[in-house]
Amino acid sequence: MSLQSYLEQQRARIDQELQRLAPPETEIPAVVHRAMRYSLFAGGKRIRSIFCLEAAGLVSPEPGPDIETISCSLELVHTYSLIHDDLPALDNDDFRRGKLTCHKEFGKDNKAFGEAIAILAGDALLTLAFQVLANLPRTPPAVKAALVAELARAAGTVNGMIGGQVADLEAVNGPLSPETLEYIHRSKTGALFCASVRLGAIGAQADAEQLAAITCFGENAGLAFQIVDDILDVESSTESLGKTAGKDAVQKKVTYPALYGLERSKQMAAGYIGQAKAALDPFGPRATRLKELADYLVSRKA
Ligand code: IPE
Ligand code: IPE
Ligand code: MG
Ligand code: MG
Ligand code: MG
Repeated sequence: MSLQSYLEQQRARIDQELQRLAPPETEIPAVVHRAMRYSLFAGGKRIRSIFCLEAAGLVSPEPGPDIETISCSLELVHTYSLIHDDLPALDNDDFRRGKLTCHKEFGKDNKAFGEAIAILAGDALLTLAFQVLANLPRTPPAVKAALVAELARAAGTVNGMIGGQVADLEAVNGPLSPETLEYIHRSKTGALFCASVRLGAIGAQADAEQLAAITCFGENAGLAFQIVDDILDVESSTESLGKTAGKDAVQKKVTYPALYGLERSKQMAAGYIGQAKAALDPFGPRATRLKELADYLVSRKA
């Protein structure tokens, strides 16, 4: 199967499960459920869930019946992070996934969801992710606890997503050091990305050696993913990205292109992807699809 058909097939699988997990729009209070669903189904690539499923499949041909649900917890946390990242207090973006951002979108009664509902919709998606993991019906309790701890750590302040987001905001207009830049990217994006493959591996009950290899893959691929996000902000268009292009320079964000230039940034992203793929060598040809997915992270145009 071509990579494109495979990605489409996986996306459909994930979206179906997310539909099941997200409360219906009719549920009271409807406005927050509408806002959650608006952002959740605005058309993300579902890359974190797809990597999670693939890592699980690498560990075991039958990774367990809850694996799709586990993979959706990542998309719930990721969508929350985007809603909050786009708020005026953070990156102040009007477009996301080709649509208005959550706080800008007009709800059913032609009234914008606004910042308050966007904040709460983000909070709700984050909370739902942990509810989903805690309630996994067919996963042993010790595995559930490990999944919850892993996702919380990756989304948190210590080398996690929030830590990276804080440093990202603080770094604006400041001096740009390679160490700080790498910390920001590893934390704000790399941590959740790495957790994606780790959740898959943990869900499939990987042994310590398998988990270490998959972690090394996730750390390197996650850093490359954010470097490519920075490159696309410079090189791509608002239309193909579905979010405002060229914003990083305007907002004086610390990015790889700003510090190293585009060519060097591309080489660095390719280098990290090379390291990520090498970490999977012990799995042999079974890791072919995951390696192909890693290459897609740098070849993607959106
Ligand atoms: C964008 O993530 C934000 C980053 C952490 C780089 P994605 O590029 O995965 O966004 P969607 O989910 O496809 O919209
Ligand atoms: C976002 O990084 C990282 C998150 C934790 C959401 P960016 O601010 O570069 O992501 P985009 O470019 O808005 O998607
Ligand atoms: Mg940001
Ligand atoms: Mg942003
Ligand atoms: Mg960006």
